[in-house]
Amino acid sequence: MDTDKHGSNPYLYLSFLSVVNILWCQLELTLKLYISQMVTSDSTIIPYFKYLSKTFKSSHILMPRTKNHIELQFLSEPSDVNYGGKVHGGMMMKWIDQAAFACALQWSQSYCVTVYVGGIRFFHPVHIGHLVKMEARIIYTGKTSMHIAVDAFSKPVGQTDFVKNTHCIIVFVAVDDEGQPKVIPAFKPKTEKEIAMHGYAIKLMELRKSIDKEMEPYIV
Ligand SMILES: CC(C)(COP(=O)(O)OP(=O)(O)OC[C@H]1O[C@@H](n2cnc3c(N)ncnc32)[C@H](O)[C@@H]1OP(=O)(O)O)[C@@H](O)C(=O)NCCC(=O)NCCS
Repeated sequence: MDTDKHGSNPYLYLSFLSVVNILWCQLELTLKLYISQMVTSDSTIIPYFKYLSKTFKSSHILMPRTKNHIELQFLSEPSDVNYGGKVHGGMMMKWIDQAAFACALQWSQSYCVTVYVGGIRFFHPVHIGHLVKMEARIIYTGKTSMHIAVDAFSKPVGQTDFVKNTHCIIVFVAVDDEGQPKVIPAFKPKTEKEIAMHGYAIKLMELRKSIDKEMEPYIV
């Protein structure tokens, strides 16, 4: 095989560049599709995420297992409006689900489904045309489930300080091709904040047990 004067192989170097280029293009396409999903239907993106989740099983470059949080920023649009002239609460719930889904996908490298959403609190309305920031963070993992804290913030474009609009906890379960729960990597809290949030998730799970018991007669 040919080598240059330093002993390195130019074909290997070119192959490496090609792989980096392909991965970069895929990342770019993912981001574009994700942003476009904010204003279009779910029908195109879900199969694409299923495809990506399979692809990422063999590539740890784009989605390192250690990253337990994601952040999305986008503008709220005129089509997001409710009758009061602000962003529709249902749209906010969709963004929460999407941000948490991206976070769960990143952590598990698997297709995931929402199994529980709790304690959504709308603190302030989001205005149309404002910059929205969604933060999603894994705070607890079970065998197959990921408990994700989602916070939404917004601000007028050009201003520095975000206002917190919403907080909630959402639980995703990683599923296999048959839709059955599958084992995920365990999240081990390290920082002071992660340990506090981990404890918060455990407390909420305990509280949910009694809520589920109260609800049981009415949902079966
Ligand atoms: C998610 C689903 C595959 C789980 O199947 P299941 O037979 O209930 O599986 P299990 O009982 O083993 O539960 C799987 C995990 O979900 C968790 N889970 C189940 N109900 C839960 C609840 N109410 N709150 C939090 N976690 C819950 C379990 O604790 C378990 O987590 P663990 O493995 O980390 O301990 C199944 O319920 C499902 O397909 N639900 C519909 C999902 C969906 O369509 N979502 C979109 C909403 S429109």
